[in-house]
Formats: sequence, structure tokens, C-alpha cells
Amino acid sequence: MEKQIKKRSLVIAIDGPSGVGKSTVSKKIAARFGLTYIDTGAMYRAVALAANRAKIDIDSIEELEEFCDDLRVEFDDGTVSVNGTDYTGLIRTEEASTLASVTSSKSPVRRVLVEYQRKLAKNGAVVMEGRDIGTVVLPDTRFKFFLTASHEVRAFRRHAEQKEKESLESKEVSESMRARDSLDSNRSDSPLVKARDAIEVDTGALDIDGVVEKILLAIEDGTV
Ligand code: DC
Repeated sequence: MEKQIKKRSLVIAIDGPSGVGKSTVSKKIAARFGLTYIDTGAMYRAVALAANRAKIDIDSIEELEEFCDDLRVEFDDGTVSVNGTDYTGLIRTEEASTLASVTSSKSPVRRVLVEYQRKLAKNGAVVMEGRDIGTVVLPDTRFKFFLTASHEVRAFRRHAEQKEKESLESKEVSESMRARDSLDSNRSDSPLVKARDAIEVDTGALDIDGVVEKILLAIEDGTV
């Protein structure tokens, strides 16, 4: 199956709701093709924490616009910083998840981050994961995947991940995930939705390697 895939030109978009396995799958695909892995959720989380720390009233359009005018985000090799402060170690908490789901619904924030994400993908060789990569950030890429799984499967995975860091009941994780899913899917700017030309992969029905294999086959076979 040695099809001529120009690895340097590969731009792969992976979207889907939280807890669906996007990060693990995206990192494995990036490693397999020697591509750069870009986690856009990490950017929304870091910006949400930075806005919170700066006590920005994100419901005030003036305050938010002013904050976004000076916003400098850097994502590099798994680390994320905002205006020169490294937020990498702080973004995987329930608080950051809650803040990010609200902050990411704000258009001025999305405008800054989408522009930055497009810049990162400009020279190709990336796997980018998020909610709107195939629909908004990189709509022209041929390689789009939309991962799905039932709420129960995703909440179970997220709880297993979270409980190493924070003691949360599985019910709490499940309920807050439901609330965040609803915000992500119902916001007016770039809601979570499958791109028409994305391939849907149910990650509840396969193990991680099975999902990765399915995506790699689709890319190498040129079925996308
Ligand atoms: O993927 P994640 O859970 O780290 O994302 C954090 C939040 O940011 C989540 O509420 C969805 C949002 N997000 C988004 O709106 N657009 C993206 N491209 C990535 C994440």
C-alpha cells in the first residue's frame, strides 16, 4: 500500500466532542506520518484561564474586544502560552473545561484563534484537532475525520482521565460534560458539527489502534 502520499503536504483535521479520543488518536497519526500535532482545545482552555486571571468580564463586548486585540497565543510542541505566560500545567482541570466552554463561544476569541491556527497549518504537515477544524479552520483540506461515541462511553473515559487529578464523582463528570456538549453544539459561532465531507468514525466500537488504523487506511487508500 505504498501510495505516494506527500507527507509534507498532509493536513489532517480531526473533530468531535470531548472524551471521544481525539487527542490520543491525533497524536498517533501525527507520529505515524511525522506531522506536527496541534491541539486547538488547549488554546481555548489557556485563553479562558488567562481571561479569568485578568478578571475580564467576557460578557462585556468592549472588555472582550480589548482583551482579544492584545491576545498573543503560542502553541509549540504541546505547550501553550498566552501573552507570554505558560498555561500548559493548568489547562486539564474541570475549572478550565468549564471556563473554556463559555469563552470558546465568544466570536472575538474564535477570530484570534482561528487566524493563528490557520497560520500554523499554512506550511502543511499537521494534524489539528478541535471542534471546527474541518468546517471553519481548514475547510479545504481533503483529510477530515469526525469522531463520535455515545455520551456514556465518553463520560466514562473522561472520568477515568480526571480522577487521577481531581476527585470527581462519575455523575458530576457526566453532567458537566453534557452541559459543555450542549454549549459546543448550540453556540451560534462555529458550533460542533460534522463537515459534510468528513469521514465519521465511531470510537466506541473500536479500540484506539483500530480507530487509528481506520483513519490511516482512509488516507493511504485515498478514499477521502
Ligand atoms: O477539546 P477540549 O475539551 O480541550 O476543548 C476545550 C473547549 O474549547 C471545549 O468547550 C470546546 C472548545 N473548542 C472549540 O470551541 N473549538 C475548538 N477548535 C477546540 C475546542
